[in-house]
Amino acid sequence: MTTDLAADERFKTVLDRLTGLSQRDYYNPYSLFEWPESLPEDAWWMSPELLSVHGTGYGGTLTGEQLRAVSRWESLNFYSLNVHGIRELLTALVARIHTEEFALPSEYFHHVIGEENEHMWFFATFCRRYGRIYPVRTLGLAGPGVPEADHFLVFARLLIFEEIVDVFNQRMGVDERLHPTIRQVNQVHHQDESRHIAFGRQAVALLHSRLRDRLDRSRLDELERYLKRYMRSSVDSLVNPAVFRDAGLPEPYRVRREILADPAHEEYTRRVLRRSVDFMVNEQIFADDGIPPACAN
Ligand SMILES: [Fe+2]
Ligand SMILES: [Fe+2]
Repeated sequence: MTTDLAADERFKTVLDRLTGLSQRDYYNPYSLFEWPESLPEDAWWMSPELLSVHGTGYGGTLTGEQLRAVSRWESLNFYSLNVHGIRELLTALVARIHTEEFALPSEYFHHVIGEENEHMWFFATFCRRYGRIYPVRTLGLAGPGVPEADHFLVFARLLIFEEIVDVFNQRMGVDERLHPTIRQVNQVHHQDESRHIAFGRQAVALLHSRLRDRLDRSRLDELERYLKRYMRSSVDSLVNPAVFRDAGLPEPYRVRREILADPAHEEYTRRVLRRSVDFMVNEQIFADDGIPPACAN
């Protein structure tokens, strides 16, 4: 891959531009944020339309107060997922930053690692100050067993993760119903992530185009199935029984099962994944836009 990646002029141009933007937009997160002592509890902490219960039969039975409680803990769950996802991302970048294969994006990786460490810090700070960091719910997703696709899969998963997060950040960053600190955390993250997503899209498209020359159809199909399972489990991890328990709802596991089985959850899945699925289809990484159904367990 070394020569191919190094020889790709377009990729090099994108990297130079993104590195320049990172330098230009550099900020100090440790002095940027205002952290009030507490945030009002009976308020929207997440845009109501982004709640997992939105539009579901179960959500229709909840009072305004209960919905706002769900929004509080679901907001914290969302930042917790960021904390865990960033840790995986950093591990992947650190493992590759000084390898020959990634010599070209190495300089850019230094910037991303710095920025992601700061994202992890402000998300974790938010969770610790105003609630808690939810532990990882292990996904137990078996890999597709295609070792040649290792780099591609890592960057494809990271891109999917960043694109899902950005759907929430974009909306919550400008939602006047949310406390200014919540808006600010989402807004600042969205600004950095637009660069990361631009990089991720270039890298994933390039890595997949190399794989198309080396892998037969059945293995490429296997990669598609795996990434779609990954998308499904990522969306379903936004529906967390620990959130429902903290929001004071009885039978939190039953609540999760009901939501995953509700037709509105399919609509939610489509909304959250639309951008990344469209990208995968346009780049011929996916043959179609179908995502496997939710599985409540
Ligand atoms: Fe980030
Ligand atoms: Fe990022």
